[in-house]
Amino acid sequence: GEVNLFRNTVLDHYRSHGRHLPWRETRDPYAILVSEIMLQQTQVDRVREKYLEFLAIFPTWQDLAEAELSRVLSLWQGLGYNRRAVALQQCARAVRERFGGTLPHEVAELESLPGIGPYTARAVAAFAFDIATPFIETNIRSVFIRHFFPHCESVRDADILPLVELTLDRGNPRQWYYALMDYGASLKRGQTNPGRKSAHHVRQSPFRGSNREQRSLILRT
Ligand code: ADE
Repeated sequence: GEVNLFRNTVLDHYRSHGRHLPWRETRDPYAILVSEIMLQQTQVDRVREKYLEFLAIFPTWQDLAEAELSRVLSLWQGLGYNRRAVALQQCARAVRERFGGTLPHEVAELESLPGIGPYTARAVAAFAFDIATPFIETNIRSVFIRHFFPHCESVRDADILPLVELTLDRGNPRQWYYALMDYGASLKRGQTNPGRKSAHHVRQSPFRGSNREQRSLILRT
């Protein structure tokens, strides 16, 4: 059905073009949170240049919590949006004070921490704890629009989120989200042509004007 076609398209791309990124080599929730905060507003290539250096100097919650803010900010140079660095340090302090130095797994608790909004909480749950929870960021949005709404001018996240939830690989959410993000990034770079026949072929939407309930029925069949 449509769900399997979609999953196979994304996973086929991941098998041949998946990215090796340093924050995917770790399961340490601290390191993963650092990467997600950096990636919120900064390109992958730029984060790559700064991430390992930051972790070498502040390898744990404790190191970051106890650091001089000026030192944190000077390491943050090049990433921009310095208030993220301030919030990240406040987060490290809160993890120590409120959670005994262990990042909680629950989305609601993650969202209660400085610097962690609805997206980052769910991304960290997926990447650090392999928890299947739906979320959208720019690359993921591109994937769902390309596949399910190819001719629509404006698609709301409220229309995409149920599809993210329905297609989520609950057995392997961490890898599924890596695959979604890599597929979306390749769409932006123009390296992925989902059309089979010609470079300009765009597949028909499986929905063709259906409403949300009809869409969910179409996907379940
Ligand atoms: N891998 C894990 N999180 C990521 C993100 N936010 N962007 C790109 N790759 C990632």
